[in-house]
Amino acid sequence: MQRRHMLQSAAALLATPWSAARAADPFRIGLILPMSGPFASTGKQIEAAARLYMAQNGDTVAGRKVELIVKDDTSAPDVTKRIAQELVVNEKVSVLAGFGLTPLALATAPIATQSKTPLVVMAAATSSITEASPFIIRTSFTLPQAAVAIADWAPNNGIKKVVSLVSDFGPGHDAEKFFRDRFVFNRGQVVESLRVPMRNPDFAPFLQKVRDLKPDALYVFVPSGAGAALMKQFAERGLDKAGIRLIGTGDITDDDILNAMGDVAVGVVTSHHYSASHPSPLNKKFVEAFQKANNGLRPNFMAVGGYDGMRVIYEAAKASKGGTGEALLNAMKGQIFESPRGPMFIDAQTRDVVHNIYIRKVERVNGQLYNQEFATLKDVKDPGKNK
Ligand code: PHB
Repeated sequence: MQRRHMLQSAAALLATPWSAARAADPFRIGLILPMSGPFASTGKQIEAAARLYMAQNGDTVAGRKVELIVKDDTSAPDVTKRIAQELVVNEKVSVLAGFGLTPLALATAPIATQSKTPLVVMAAATSSITEASPFIIRTSFTLPQAAVAIADWAPNNGIKKVVSLVSDFGPGHDAEKFFRDRFVFNRGQVVESLRVPMRNPDFAPFLQKVRDLKPDALYVFVPSGAGAALMKQFAERGLDKAGIRLIGTGDITDDDILNAMGDVAVGVVTSHHYSASHPSPLNKKFVEAFQKANNGLRPNFMAVGGYDGMRVIYEAAKASKGGTGEALLNAMKGQIFESPRGPMFIDAQTRDVVHNIYIRKVERVNGQLYNQEFATLKDVKDPGKNK
């Protein structure tokens, strides 16, 4: 009896066509994130958003079970690259995703090219990243998109003389350059450009210098997670009392930590693609579901990059009928949809994100601090691509 059963199973296995066996393979997504160390908040936000997307949209695409493999790269580029290689070779992932910082995405780009594996950048935001491999797609944002917007807003709002302060790596360099070029074009003056170390910066000596220079405003880029320390020292050094305004890209008033910043953050004007208070029904639903699933944690722009990245992956898997490599990549290009951030699309030529950039001001709403959007620049392409 048992023997007959075994023989039947073996026969059934042999009769299974190759395509049917393949269809049963899981569709694996390798999500590589900083889950520990100074940038762990980025990893936490993106993983939570990816899991929420799966909970809402099911764990099957194109007849294949979706398997999310989350790996901690500790924000070290050599580790990101090694993990990516292992995921491609051993786990046969169809997609590499995540990438919490620019150097991590750049280090991994050659793996995507060599293995023809689509790589979805959900966080990193230096303009040039999408040019590092034809297999890279981005769902986060670019610093030039945000920097140019605030450089247009500032001179029309009494800010003519600025000191810039940026983190000394890719996105900071973009934030500095694209702000300066546009601000000067608008007849503004950047009297000093300061760069602080990317890891564990001590802002104090830099802020003292800013105080002495007495600009109309300090323009800042620091990566997600670092804004609270900057804001605290800005107040401690008395820059706000000295009448120096604080402006920047939305990374400094990151929704993840904004509420804990206190009164010093109130009135800070920034430009960005996402605010947790973006007033659309879709965003309200997204924020509610995210908070419910994560002990009240507020989603930030990193979470949205992760959520939309999963959308792009799912829809591409469906459209390509479970395809991999170039077929999967091509189905990611040109996707257009409503994100919690507002309308967005993936430019088929540049593979980069196109979306609205909002000018926002920190305000207290029902006792909570939020970035309240008050002006919209529509369908902003990455200005870094027009070189
Ligand atoms: C980046 O490394 O590209 C990066 C990190 C954090 C941000 C923005 C950009 O908030």
